[in-house]
Amino acid sequence: MDKILITGATGNVGLATVRFLLSQDVQDYKVVAAVRGIERAQKLEGVSKAQFVNFEFDEPKTYAAALKGVNKLLLIRPNQISDVSKHIFPFLDQVEKSDVKHLVFVSIVGAQRNRIFANHRIETHLKKMSTPHTIIRPSLYMQNLITLHGQDIKNNDRVYIPAGAGSVNYIDARDVAIVAGELLTKPGHDGKEYEITGQEPMDFYKIEALFTKELGREIKYAHPSTIKFIRQKMREKKGMPFIVTLSLLYEAARSGKMGHVSGVFKELTGSEPRRLEDFIHENRLFWMKESVFESK
Ligand SMILES: NC(=O)c1ccc[n+]([C@@H]2O[C@H](COP(=O)([O-])OP(=O)(O)OC[C@H]3O[C@@H](n4cnc5c(N)ncnc54)[C@H](OP(=O)(O)O)[C@@H]3O)[C@@H](O)[C@H]2O)c1
Repeated sequence: MDKILITGATGNVGLATVRFLLSQDVQDYKVVAAVRGIERAQKLEGVSKAQFVNFEFDEPKTYAAALKGVNKLLLIRPNQISDVSKHIFPFLDQVEKSDVKHLVFVSIVGAQRNRIFANHRIETHLKKMSTPHTIIRPSLYMQNLITLHGQDIKNNDRVYIPAGAGSVNYIDARDVAIVAGELLTKPGHDGKEYEITGQEPMDFYKIEALFTKELGREIKYAHPSTIKFIRQKMREKKGMPFIVTLSLLYEAARSGKMGHVSGVFKELTGSEPRRLEDFIHENRLFWMKESVFESK
């Protein structure tokens, strides 16, 4: 029986992958959630059938127990980790020596072209490893509209993103998880690289209109310059590698590089990815004034 280790298992894609794998009718595998706090993780919805193991990328002493008996691995780099040589490569060295026969890495759109991205350095490292692997490059997650921009939408009625008139084809992290689940459980994906997007690219004027319609109050697209955006994120005390990566992604959107459609989700799953309109409807309580709603 396969034993699948999921890193980042309490985050957007990792948690959704655990839930997806555990929800399948045929489960000829065990799912192990690699987490920093088992008690906290066990309380999450939809994970009761998972096994849990303590794991921290920056604590090499946790690696051996986490990898014990594992033959498939979902690798997710936490945004907080930018020094991948120090905190991810030592783990990958252990993976290469372990029984892992297939690794799926969740990278990001454009990472193959952009050396400054931490995920680019991981992709390059994977190519030198003997462990068979598959790379997923998702476009931006719809969940960013909650986790990164949600408070601004809720409190200031604005979408503060420096993308000019450019478009983004947002994907729901739960759909990235479905793809990850397919790749971890079906054969034939070794050495492949898949870009995944949602169904429809949209500029932020259209997204502003979707929010305004759903929330019943005016939400404005603020389209700041990239410099203004960087200064704002610095005031919010976000880490510099994260600010730079986010700014580069929105710069790519501004210059028309994020508006394409990939058919990979449909090819791999047979259905269409979720629509942004539906995501905004489903999570509308989050952006309502005085709301205490939390998404997960
Ligand atoms: N956001 C986007 O639009 C987007 C699009 C494409 C790709 N990506 C890529 O997706 C990745 C982030 O994935 P995500 O959004 O699913 O994650 P996330 O929601 O930010 O969650 C991060 C996960 O990593 C765990 N974690 C944090 N520090 C850790 C450490 N030192 N050791 C072990 N685990 C640790 C967290 O656990 P705790 O609960 O303990 O904190 C959590 O489970 C990044 O590599 C990013 O480049 C993002």
